[in-house]
Amino acid sequence: MKRDFLRLWDLSSEEIFSLIERAIELKKGVDAGKCPLIGKSIGLLFEKPSTRTRVSFEVGIYQLGGQPVYMTPAEIQLGRGETISDTAKVLSRYLQGIVIRTHEHERLQEFAVSSDVPVINGLSNLHHPCQVLADLMTIKEKKGDFKGLKVAYIGDGNNVANSLLEAAGRAGFILVIACPEGYEPDAEVLEEARTGRGEIIILREPAEAAAKADVLYTDVWISMGQENETEKRRQRFKTYQLNETLVGYAKKDAIVMHCLPAHRGEEITDAVLDGPHSVVLDQAENRLHAQKALMEWLLGDSYGK
Ligand code: CP
Ligand code: NVA
Repeated sequence: MKRDFLRLWDLSSEEIFSLIERAIELKKGVDAGKCPLIGKSIGLLFEKPSTRTRVSFEVGIYQLGGQPVYMTPAEIQLGRGETISDTAKVLSRYLQGIVIRTHEHERLQEFAVSSDVPVINGLSNLHHPCQVLADLMTIKEKKGDFKGLKVAYIGDGNNVANSLLEAAGRAGFILVIACPEGYEPDAEVLEEARTGRGEIIILREPAEAAAKADVLYTDVWISMGQENETEKRRQRFKTYQLNETLVGYAKKDAIVMHCLPAHRGEEITDAVLDGPHSVVLDQAENRLHAQKALMEWLLGDSYGK
């Protein structure tokens, strides 16, 4: 039976740990030139803009020997009203897997139900699992282990925050989220993540979250699709900026993470984003390695055998 990757929770802790190990191997060049996607075409259906996700998937598919096929709704009949279900069934006849970036998470779920080939979530309003898989790889590289680690997320309880909740539940670290009232992560995701291995705390005060943290993480205050709330959000989040004062509360060797793109001067200052604690470029690079490990496992020749 095909498997999808719509959220981090779709993978067990063991599966996540083994993908991280494999991604670290691939980054070192192990098995370079092996082509587990030879003869396979992988779709990339993007309903929102992307730099990292699109390019890292296209390059990753090429490096694994496959062919990426990039599509936007405006260029295919989906944009003219062809149903998600019909699109998924037809594309399944050509493609061996598909990465989708979309608005409502339900669109992904609907696509996955009708698709005969694995569906990978390249970001929805609710989850960003490929990002956080790469983030886990980055944390593993920089910190060695997840046990006892304190990760502080400062800002909006958005798709990245939801995937971090699931990461805490699976990898078993302490996740403290500081967000304004009304901007908490998704309640159902939170409840499910709390059944896992980690410890999850939601509070209001950024300094309290940052205190003695090993990892400081933030993301934009205005996600794609929320542009009509820009001013309201800027006001609501202005005390949630990841700046040098906040970094001062964390451990001396704390790392600073951001999925990018950043709105410099809003959720994070230039000094922090470009400063000595920042690992954001490693994070961005690791998208490539983590997604190659994911595709090799989910879509590669050994899959299902
Ligand atoms: N972090 C991330 O997903 O970036 P893009 O929107 O550029 O793909
Ligand atoms: N939360 C952001 C992440 C972008 C990679 C968004 O959804 O726009």
